[in-house]
Amino acid sequence: MKRSQVNDIIRQADAFLKRLRFELPPFARWTAEDWRAKGPEAAEIVENQLGWDITDFGSGNFEKVGLFLFTLRNGAVENLKTGCGKVYAEKAMIVLPEQVTPMHFHWNKMEDIINRGGGTLAIELHNAAPDETLADTDVVVSMDGVRRTVPAGTIVELAPGESITLETYMYHAFWAVGEPTLVGEVSTVNDDAADNRFLVPVGRFPTIEEDELPLRLLVGDYESYYQG
Ligand SMILES: [Fe+2]
Repeated sequence: MKRSQVNDIIRQADAFLKRLRFELPPFARWTAEDWRAKGPEAAEIVENQLGWDITDFGSGNFEKVGLFLFTLRNGAVENLKTGCGKVYAEKAMIVLPEQVTPMHFHWNKMEDIINRGGGTLAIELHNAAPDETLADTDVVVSMDGVRRTVPAGTIVELAPGESITLETYMYHAFWAVGEPTLVGEVSTVNDDAADNRFLVPVGRFPTIEEDELPLRLLVGDYESYYQG
């Protein structure tokens, strides 16, 4: 992706979040220059990969296959292993109408996906077979505390306020319907480097073509700017 496109997406996301009165934490506003001046006090943000995260999953077409994310909080894989410390994570995402996040599951992360406002969120569900292809078995899901059993490949729709619990090894792909949608994710520790099993392999973090200066750093930029 080009840096100019990433900057545009950040500007649009910022305006959308303001419209929905969803406030981001202070580090969302740190510039590249701010980051160069940060010391060990900011290590948690870098180590646990908090912040701006924009991806086109290698598609070259963000509006069609892509996702805007901001990781608000996250622990480390070590926390999950030991059961101590920050074992949880929270993200905000913006999903555009018909913009697909490709079919994937997580080996370790269990997550609640929440429609926090805007349009409708559609989610296609499958169990993973033992060989990690799509199983044709019924899927048992909990939606806001109510258990439902649906056939493989069912597309469930979440209206604003509604949520779904996605267990490990439960394949899911999602997109918005009608309007851009603010989506929350509350989960166990998030490890985007090693815990996304895409049905068809895709790139999780884009390579950035630097055609202008970054408005904000993405999580993938920290290593180039943060000296610790
Ligand atoms: Fe997921």
